[in-house]
Amino acid sequence: MKKLILITGIATLIYACSGSSENKTSDTAAAETATATETPEEKQAADARGIGKFTNVEVGETLDAAMADAGTKVYDVKCASCHKLTDEKLVGPGWKDVTKRRTAEWIMNFSTNTDEMLEKDAEAQAMLEICMVRMPNQNLSDEDARTVYEFMRKNDGIK
Ligand code: HEC
Repeated sequence: MKKLILITGIATLIYACSGSSENKTSDTAAAETATATETPEEKQAADARGIGKFTNVEVGETLDAAMADAGTKVYDVKCASCHKLTDEKLVGPGWKDVTKRRTAEWIMNFSTNTDEMLEKDAEAQAMLEICMVRMPNQNLSDEDARTVYEFMRKNDGIK
């Protein structure tokens, strides 16, 4: 847990637009929504998945190149205007290492359930505070969300 906070802290320093109040807000949210039946570990794992329909995304050890190619097209049309592939912020955070700082479930939930995540997810809210722009709902299909995720993995060096 300490290690995780440290990693989050470092990531926060390195990446513009990822939110310096992250730790504080997620603790507050955790306190508000924790239920008696959930252990802290379960709560943490649930938080890492974000809010939405994706609770268990199957991800291969190697890249699915065809899927990543399909994701490139979605990225070009719907995401490139706001997200660079480096760690540099455009309108939203750059995507370099996004698959390392977030789970597949969190990314796909955020990509398809953006409004609810921005309203309720502590990490998403912390980003919003920094970026000052609400990411608009992109009307992605589940499949598009999965292919873009594979494209992000490719961008992060998975082969
Ligand atoms: C109009 C600009 C805009 C477009 C287009 C856009 N985004 Fe975003 N995105 C943002 C902003 C701004 C944030 C930061 C959260 C906020 O402030 O709403 C963000 C955050 C994200 C994050 C979290 C990044 C991180 O570092 O944790 C993901 C994942 C994401 N967007 C996916 C997508 C996908 C997938 C698409 C294309 C289908 C897309 N976005 C299109 C503006 C945009």
